[in-house]
Amino acid sequence: MSGRTKLGVLVSGSGSNLQALLDACAKPDFPAEVALVVSNVPTAFALERAKKAGVPSVVLEHKAFGSRADFEKALVEKLVSAGVEWVCLAGFMRLLGVDFLGHFAGRVLNIHPSLLPAFTGLHAQRQALERGVKVAGCTVHFVDPGMDTGPIIAQAAVPVLPGDDEAALTARILKEEHRLYPLVVKLVTTGVVRLEGGRVVTSAGPAVGELSLRNPGEPG
Ligand code: GRF
Repeated sequence: MSGRTKLGVLVSGSGSNLQALLDACAKPDFPAEVALVVSNVPTAFALERAKKAGVPSVVLEHKAFGSRADFEKALVEKLVSAGVEWVCLAGFMRLLGVDFLGHFAGRVLNIHPSLLPAFTGLHAQRQALERGVKVAGCTVHFVDPGMDTGPIIAQAAVPVLPGDDEAALTARILKEEHRLYPLVVKLVTTGVVRLEGGRVVTSAGPAVGELSLRNPGEPG
């Protein structure tokens, strides 16, 4: 189907969020399609997922570039030549600088496995368990040059249960990630959710409630 928004998905690892986006894009009424997957890690399982879905992918190893600016320039070139309009970070383990973000201004999304602004950076689920929080979750946000600091679009909460280890909590959060990311992509690419003056604005409509925190334990 033509006229769909072209996504570039940046990955470094397993790519289960990439899979959720690929699955959503496989539905004929979804407003976006994955035009290119870029991995900075050659062994990332996400590359297998792209191949299986018949989506072009490329490896750009950041280590092969002399500077972050050179790496990001190459990244922009690949995405632009694939016609990418929106960029989704999906487990991409590099910070992006102002040059990259300036090119895709207001059109870069990230998903993070915590209820931001709590627990930025690596091992968010472990940090949550160590602090003893009773509610954890995930956040989809616009990307700015900081670490998990951009304007928040949507969050989903899950309970932290007695006896949870990192793997159990990670799995519970991932389930929500896979629901939330495609929903946000749909809403931003159709203009229901917009970034205005550094704030997230959402048009009224039936989807708006889906962007909010749910009570942990509430049925999905
Ligand atoms: C997810 O938990 C995501 O929130 C974080 O990195 C993880 C990536 O997992 N940014 P996957 O590669 O999508 O399976």
